[in-house]
Amino acid sequence: MAIERTLAIIKPDATRAKNAGKIIDMIEAHGFTIVGMKKMQLTREQAEQFYAVHKARPFFGELTEFMVSGPVIVMALEKENAIAQWRKLMGETNPANAATGTIRKLFGTSIGDNAVHGSDSPETAKFEVSFFFPELK
Ligand code: CMP
Repeated sequence: MAIERTLAIIKPDATRAKNAGKIIDMIEAHGFTIVGMKKMQLTREQAEQFYAVHKARPFFGELTEFMVSGPVIVMALEKENAIAQWRKLMGETNPANAATGTIRKLFGTSIGDNAVHGSDSPETAKFEVSFFFPELK
């Protein structure tokens, strides 16, 4: 299995609830190496560009509004099979369907306020990591 990089975001609901430290702790406890990390307030333009793939979805406005509602923590994570492993640790998109012990089960409260984001494929990971960490080679 190859070492991969993926993008993780701790979303505004989780930073507001002061759950960021617990989530970062879980990331490290599961063997991910944090190779980049920034706390930032996204602009609307950044949120719209980042989620451009969802532009046609009915929830696009709600999603981008939420993503600019407070600070986020963006992280580039490295591990063997990192993309799938991070998605497994996050749990299902809707916290109601997420497995026990996953981040979204523990800290998410709705499909929108679901605590964290993760890249869903190698192509997306490449785009998303370079979106926030152009300095990472
Ligand atoms: P994320 O992994 O960040 O990728 C896209 C996000 O859209 C997803 O997590 C959800 O938080 C959000 N999303 C998906 N479906 C809905 C929905 N029906 N209503 C609001 N937000 C949604």
